[in-house]
Amino acid sequence: MTVQVGILGATGAVGQRLVQLLAPHDDFELAALTASSASAGELYRDAAKWRVDAPIPDHVAEMTVTETDPDAVPDDVDLLFSSLPSSVGAEVEPAFCEAGYVVSSNSSNARMADDVPLVIPEINAGHLDLLEVQREERGWDGALVKNPNCSTITFVPTLAALADAGYELERVHVSTLQAVSGAGYDGVSSMEIIDNAVPHIGGEEGKLETESRKLLGEFDGVSLTEHDVGVSASCNRIPTIDGHLENVWVEAAEELTPADAVDAMASYPSLDLPSSPETLIHVFDEPDRPQPRLDRTVGGGMAVAAGGFQESTFGLQYNCLAHNTIRGAAGASVLNGELLRSEGYL
Ligand SMILES: NC(=O)c1ccc[n+]([C@@H]2O[C@H](COP(=O)([O-])OP(=O)(O)OC[C@H]3O[C@@H](n4cnc5c(N)ncnc54)[C@H](OP(=O)(O)O)[C@@H]3O)[C@@H](O)[C@H]2O)c1
Repeated sequence: MTVQVGILGATGAVGQRLVQLLAPHDDFELAALTASSASAGELYRDAAKWRVDAPIPDHVAEMTVTETDPDAVPDDVDLLFSSLPSSVGAEVEPAFCEAGYVVSSNSSNARMADDVPLVIPEINAGHLDLLEVQREERGWDGALVKNPNCSTITFVPTLAALADAGYELERVHVSTLQAVSGAGYDGVSSMEIIDNAVPHIGGEEGKLETESRKLLGEFDGVSLTEHDVGVSASCNRIPTIDGHLENVWVEAAEELTPADAVDAMASYPSLDLPSSPETLIHVFDEPDRPQPRLDRTVGGGMAVAAGGFQESTFGLQYNCLAHNTIRGAAGASVLNGELLRSEGYL
């Protein structure tokens, strides 16, 4: 049975990627598109300044955008993908959940709430059962699940592979080189970023530091205990369009050689959800890969790429990369939607 789905914030950078991924989806039928009051009432083709490098799917172009309000979304829609600014998400996502909709959200609001699962399906699918606690505590018929920040999604799968192979992670430092699409279409002006790098992305470092510990934590059926690894991050915006590249240093309790890390990451399993990449972590032998322009579409943009493994004074060092609006945002949300469906939450 096809599930009727909608997108909250359908006209933005992530919303457009969601349209691209959901329009041809075999299990989901796109039945609702919402945005701000400025776009409500317009055809999608007029409301969205389409910037995805493929045409707007014809049937979506002719859909009418509505207000982002539970009363404006048809009752037979079961699942909503949210790509709203976090301030808007904080206000409206709970209202949709209360009205009975299941929301798979990209927005940063509530990611760290005790009863909100923050999920990367290949890493911590079991955390989804936190929804039982959430429904009980909040009295919702609907539910709220989050995917992490795009730069968190890029490096946490590599840490999960090391932890899964038995390494006790003690300290991690990550330095990011983040693409401009991560800030949304109106995020960074060309005068600011061309011929430049900006060593500050407001609030980003804290997200990497806290979300990673939640994702790697243990859920015992009642509450979630975060992983005690210490994570420190420094975040930089650079003039690439898509694809966040990250330099990572990992200190483990045991000896962790580059060859051990390559084995752990290359063999870390993917899932068989419709949007899962065949291989989750694509390991490059070449020391100068991965690179954003060359490697952001590995696994259809749903895989993580890693390379440049070497020993350093501060433990193992390597680089990783993921497509920030696909694996890091829209694709992550769709994958969570597929997990919600396969686990019977719709
Ligand atoms: N870009 C990324 O790589 C990325 C990665 C991970 C997570 N995220 C998160 O995903 C969310 C969306 O990011 P984005 O880059 O797609 O932003 P964006 O390009 O600015 O798009 C924002 C969307 O929200 C709508 N919107 C704005 N204000 C609204 C309001 N008051 N009521 C209802 N709808 C409203 C906009 O509609 P109008 O067109 O009508 O203004 C648009 O559809 C953010 O929370 C962001 O932090 C982004």
